[in-house]
Amino acid sequence: MDADSGFIMDFVVDKCGDVFQGISSLVDVAGGLGGATQVIAKAFPHVEGSVLDLSHVVAYAPTGTEVKYIAGDMFESIPPANAVFLKWVMHDWGDAECIKILKNCKKAIPSKEKGGKVIILDIMVGAGSLSDQKHMETQVLFDLFIMFINGAERDEQEWKNIILKAGFSDYKIILF
Ligand SMILES: C[S@@+](CC[C@H](N)C(=O)[O-])C[C@H]1O[C@@H](n2cnc3c(N)ncnc32)[C@H](O)[C@@H]1O
Repeated sequence: MDADSGFIMDFVVDKCGDVFQGISSLVDVAGGLGGATQVIAKAFPHVEGSVLDLSHVVAYAPTGTEVKYIAGDMFESIPPANAVFLKWVMHDWGDAECIKILKNCKKAIPSKEKGGKVIILDIMVGAGSLSDQKHMETQVLFDLFIMFINGAERDEQEWKNIILKAGFSDYKIILF
């Protein structure tokens, strides 16, 4: 997963960098060893980045970095921040668990008017062109992975369902 961050996050910063503008703090929930947060903190030095993951993962966190590592359980609580970031996390879980995670995200951030946001980086089934072979290959690869871990890939209606059930009133999709 850390290798994936090294690959995809430069692309995210380049194509969707606006999402991180105006944020002063961000917690990368279930962020593993923090590869994604390291890239965000480097690209946006005004963002104070932290990573939440289980204690046995945080035990292997790199040292000598500005990024703060926090051991904890996202189903219990999420440390407060301007923004919460979830990369390849939600597709590991069923709807009930995702709603619980999103409710905890909502508690961790300020209101939308005060700049609070939850940023989810994940697959959206049905997005993009089915005639694009690379796009299809990527979706199939993720389908195989999800079958292995018993997770779920979601289309827009399924994303909307969990987002609204967690108490959020709207959302914005950025495709790339
Ligand atoms: C698929 S990996 C994603 C890691 C990271 N977001 C990335 O993209 O590199 C899922 C992560 O969820 C973490 N995780 C699983 N259950 C968790 C929990 N209850 N609280 C916090 N983290 C959890 C795992 O330890 C793992 O690092």
